Amino acid sequence: VSDRGVVVAIDGPSGSGKSTVSRRVAAELDLAYLDTGAMYRAATWWCRRADVDLDDAPAVTGAVHAMPLRMVTDPADPRVVCDDVDITAAIREAVLTAVVSKVATNLDVRTELARLQRAIIAEETTPGTDSRSGGRGVVAEGRDITTVVAPDADVRILLVADEQARLTRRARERHGNADHSTLEATRDEVLRRDADDSTVSTFLTAADGVVTVDSSALGIDETVDAVLTVIAGARQAR
Ligand code: DC
Repeated sequence: VSDRGVVVAIDGPSGSGKSTVSRRVAAELDLAYLDTGAMYRAATWWCRRADVDLDDAPAVTGAVHAMPLRMVTDPADPRVVCDDVDITAAIREAVLTAVVSKVATNLDVRTELARLQRAIIAEETTPGTDSRSGGRGVVAEGRDITTVVAPDADVRILLVADEQARLTRRARERHGNADHSTLEATRDEVLRRDADDSTVSTFLTAADGVVTVDSSALGIDETVDAVLTVIAGARQAR
């Protein structure tokens, strides 16, 4: 038994409910919340602001190494601050979402962001540091947390949902409804991006020791409950 805080790693494709569920679970358990996708989005924002050509991999890598990024890990109000600019809203814009995979498939960028993510996780799990969670721990979500960033996490979950459920959720989120045209408009954001991102991370199938939670037929509350049940079981075994 150690005094270190708990690490909950949650991966999944877009539209699986990962971000909403992870945030709610972190709030429920009074843990920090780390949205690693927001870090890839911040890197993209930073490169665009500096006019770096996103197809120029070495230039992108150089820019990301110099990125002054601060992640605010409060699940009640998670924020992303870069160069003293609050970019929490800006990184969700469609123009940025359309190109973020270019940055996220750059392997040197991935190495650098994984290093930053591990540092944040270490801070949030170390008692006595000045972390948001007071060292109690963190829920970290993304595409490669269970496999690359924190393969030794106390709890590792892959949150999945079938294609129809993922498209419907994203269409409602973006356009307020899920009719034929909004579903079509959402295909690129969900399916093309997952296809691109899955060339560098394993999040379409569960790795060894990772528990799969299927949210296709579940609402948000039920999915949160399912995840909390998995966490409770794992903590008991810890
Ligand atoms: O979850 P999201 O849409 O905010 O993620 C933004 C992009 O970053 C998406 O294209 C997937 C990528 N990503 C990644 O490659 N690895 C992570 N751990 C998290 C996100």
